[in-house]
This record gives sequence, C-alpha cells and structure tokens, in this order.
Amino acid sequence: MKNPGQHDTPASDDDVVAGRVRIFDTSLRDGEQAPGFSMDRRAKLRMARQLEALGVDVLEAGFPQASPDDFAAVAEIAGALKNTTVCALARCQDGDIDSAARALAAARHSRIHLFLSTSPLHREHKLGMSRAQVLDTAVRAIERARGLCHEVEFSAEDALRTEPEFLAEVFSAAVAAGASTLNAPDTVGYTTPTEIVELFEYLRRHVVGAERVIFSSHCHDDLGMAVANSLAAVGAGARQVECTINGIGERAGNAALEEVVMALKVRAPHFGVDTRIDTRQLYPASRLLTELTGQAVPRNKAIVGANAFAHESGIHQHGMLKHRGTYEIMRPQDVGIAETRLVMGKHSGRAALRQRLQALGHAPDDAALDEIFARFKTLADHGRELHDEDLEALALGRDPHAGGPWRLVQLHASSHLGGSASASVKLAHDDGHEVGEAAIGDGPVDAVLRAIERATGTPLALTRFQIDAMGEGADAQGHAQLSARHAARDWRGHGTSTDIVEAAALAALVIVNRIAQHPPHEQAPSIEERGQGRPLADPRAQGRPHKEITA
Ligand code: KIV
Ligand code: ZN
Repeated sequence: MKNPGQHDTPASDDDVVAGRVRIFDTSLRDGEQAPGFSMDRRAKLRMARQLEALGVDVLEAGFPQASPDDFAAVAEIAGALKNTTVCALARCQDGDIDSAARALAAARHSRIHLFLSTSPLHREHKLGMSRAQVLDTAVRAIERARGLCHEVEFSAEDALRTEPEFLAEVFSAAVAAGASTLNAPDTVGYTTPTEIVELFEYLRRHVVGAERVIFSSHCHDDLGMAVANSLAAVGAGARQVECTINGIGERAGNAALEEVVMALKVRAPHFGVDTRIDTRQLYPASRLLTELTGQAVPRNKAIVGANAFAHESGIHQHGMLKHRGTYEIMRPQDVGIAETRLVMGKHSGRAALRQRLQALGHAPDDAALDEIFARFKTLADHGRELHDEDLEALALGRDPHAGGPWRLVQLHASSHLGGSASASVKLAHDDGHEVGEAAIGDGPVDAVLRAIERATGTPLALTRFQIDAMGEGADAQGHAQLSARHAARDWRGHGTSTDIVEAAALAALVIVNRIAQHPPHEQAPSIEERGQGRPLADPRAQGRPHKEITA
C-alpha cells in the first residue's frame, strides 16, 4: 500500500488499459444530503458495508467538516472497510482538508475529494473570486491534501457551465499539483449527452497530463438525463462514474448506480468497458437503502422497481413463457432478484393462468380451466392483482373475496416513549362467539398482531410489513400490506384505515381468514416443498425487517 502523499498514477495501471470504469458511490454524501434521505451513523455503516459487498471502487462517506456526526460517520466507515477506497469531501479550505484527513486516518485506502466552483456564475455570485483566485485556491488545496491521504480527487463544481478553456487550465494545474482524479460535475443537471461528449473529448485533448489521470463524471438528474449523460461521458473517455443507489441525491438526484452499471453490463459490446460491481448485490443494496431511509422507489423504476421484472399482459406473459428473451433484456437473478413475476391481473391470459395453477399443484382440464378463467377475469376486471391464495381459492371453487370467519369488533392500542406497547382486540366469529385477547409487543402494530394471533389461535411469522400513505395530510388513509408464513406457505393481506394500527389489524385478519378458509388438508404442497418454480417467500422481501410473532 502506498503512503499518504504518494499519489496515484492510474493511467499506467491495467484499469485504464483494460477499459474498466470505476464506480464511485456517493449515496452517503450527495444522496444523504438531500431532504428525506438522512441516515444516522449506524445506518450509514450498514449501508457502507453493503456498498463494499457490491464492489464499489470508491465510497464517499461524507463531508467531515459539515458536522461532528458526519465526521464520526466517515471515521467509522474508514475504519471498517477493507477493500474499498474511502473518500471524504472537503472544500478547498485548510480546516476542511485537515478534518477530512483526520476522519480518514484509519482507512486502508483514503481519498480526499476537493471541490471548488469554476463556472462564471458561481465565480461571480457564489465565490466572488476571479479566475486567477480560483486557480490558485485549487492548487494550494490539492498540494495540502496530497500529503494527508493516499489520493486526491479534484472537482470543478458546475464544470458543465464553465468555459472549456478555463476548465482545462484549472484541471492542468490540478494534475501538476497532485490530483489523480479530475471530476467534471454537471452540478445542476443541465447538460445533454452530445454536450458532455464534446466536453470530455476536449478535456482529454487539452488538459496537460491527461494521460496520467482518471476523468470522472458526476451528473445530476434535473432534466432526467443523469444516466444518459454519465454513459455518454464514459463513451468519451470518463473512467469513473459518480452515482448513487436508487439515484438519490440533491434535488432530482444523481445518476442511479444500478442503471449505469447494468447499462454497461447489458450493452457491453456497445460500451466496451466493464465495472467491478457484483451486480447480484444491486437489489439488496437498493432494498437496504429503502429500509434505512424509509423512501421507496417507484414501481416502474429501472432495475430495482417492483415492475422491473413483472409482466401482466397476456401477450407478454405468453411470450415470456415461450422465451424469456422476448420481453426481458437481463435476468432478474443478475441484479439479485430471485425471479421474474408473472402478475395475474386483468391483462393476463389463459396460458399464464394455467402455468401458475400448475405451479400451485392444480391441473384443471380444459373445461375446468375455462370456468376458472372466466371467474378470474371477472375478479381481475375490478382492477386487482390476484395472488396465489386467490388463484387457489378459484381452483378450489371458492370465492377469494369471501370474508370471515373473523371480524374486528374492538381494538385498543397504546404505546409509551421508550417503553413497550400493548394492544387488546375483540373479534367476532361467524359461528356467533366472540373472543377478546391482549398482548404486549415491540410497538403497537406488533402488539395488535400478537393479540390477533392469540385470539384466533393462528401463529403467523411476518415476512413483510409495509404501510403506505394514501393521500396527503393528517387525514390520509394508511394502506397496510402484510405477508406472513404459516404452515410452510406464504399468505398476504391488505387493510386500509385512517388509523395505521387498525389498517395492520385488518390486513392480519385477511390473512387469518384466508388460512381459516384453506384447512391444511386442502392446501397444495408449496413449490419450495416440491422443489420447483419460484420460491414462495416474496423475493422482494429481502432485506426487510423480519418480525417473528409467537402466540
Ligand atoms: O454536484 C456537484 O457539483 C457536487 C460536487 C461536490 C462534486 O456534488
Ligand atoms: Zn453532486
């Protein structure tokens, strides 16, 4: 390992020769500084370990001078990671540089990331500096940082709105002062693929010492072009891309790491470069970030959204059953998702229904399938997605929407700051008797679920619990989605109420009722038990908190 002060000369290493693009993750810095995405130190450390497992080359852990907590998070991550370069952000100011260096002291490989605005707008209105002052400030900062860490990156903030010849002048001075990575950020997400190509080609021709450094792109998504611009920059010679998991970041976010990486992988012959990312860790990384920040990705988000490998339309499902290449350009397993989902909804066809029923252990003949299909269409036309338990009910000649036997009559839940929560429920059974039970739990939702388990005698092992707000404001409805395992099967339930504890209780009762309607002797063997088809546990539940509930 090099000592601090011996800066890299990466142009001579085989990364560049072999055409490898370095992935610089800034989820914990640019991502974390956006409203709604802040994480505490423990969360940052968990995320950093996942990013190391993912194989990012450089992990920007924070901005140590910003706060004591940021400093501590960077220091903790620097001490914990083994194979990843840990990076800290610093303005071109002595105090920032020194605190970045102190925070990185324990890192096996450290990088100080210096930034200074270069565009005329920023020079005049933000910094109040002349060109000469900007140049001088950058050089002095790089020279100071160079002796305090393993490598120095210099970012010309708002590079895409900077005069190209001045940018080349600053970058040339930065190389001479000891920077080994030159980053040209599109700070405000303004550029286009054609423009960024022109700039990177210009820089590679005009920066003195260009052959000794790595050029880097850092694109924001204000016009929705961050990924396209990053990939265009790669095409023009950038060998580092700065990006974030799920595309989180300032304003509209940064380039999404999973999109950049999969584009480079899926279109490898087109781009002719590779990364070191273990792409099977992309989905776990996305889920962990969602869990730590509480911010879900849209269903239709590329690579990691719930619909990214889901097909509902009959034509698509039919094609997928014949050859998956018809409607998928990558395998879900390659991004860490267990399998493609053929969603059974109003657009689904008979072929997919037959296949799903067979996977569930039912083999209706053509006439029976016609009948099931007709009832399936009637239900699905109401806009619902039908899950395995609904299909099973149809195959058994039951109404999947039949309620009961249990109904919620009363619910009371309370919790105290720092203490345990308690709940009591009263349930009515179709046969006329009522049962009341109380329980304590880890929060009011947990307590109410335990009380329902006791009252109905139905043990549930929760595998997924999600609450989404429907609408805005204090009177928004809470929509609870629960998945639970019982008798080696997965069961799902939904419930909606303005009270989220009640929404969870209603969702749990849907599950309990479904179990009651499917006595064990009627339940087909699970696919896992028969060793075929998809695992019953929802693969998208990976990384979610797993709560075991015992009666
Ligand atoms: O967007 C930006 O310019 C930045 C710099 C600090 C690199 O985040
Ligand atoms: Zn940024």
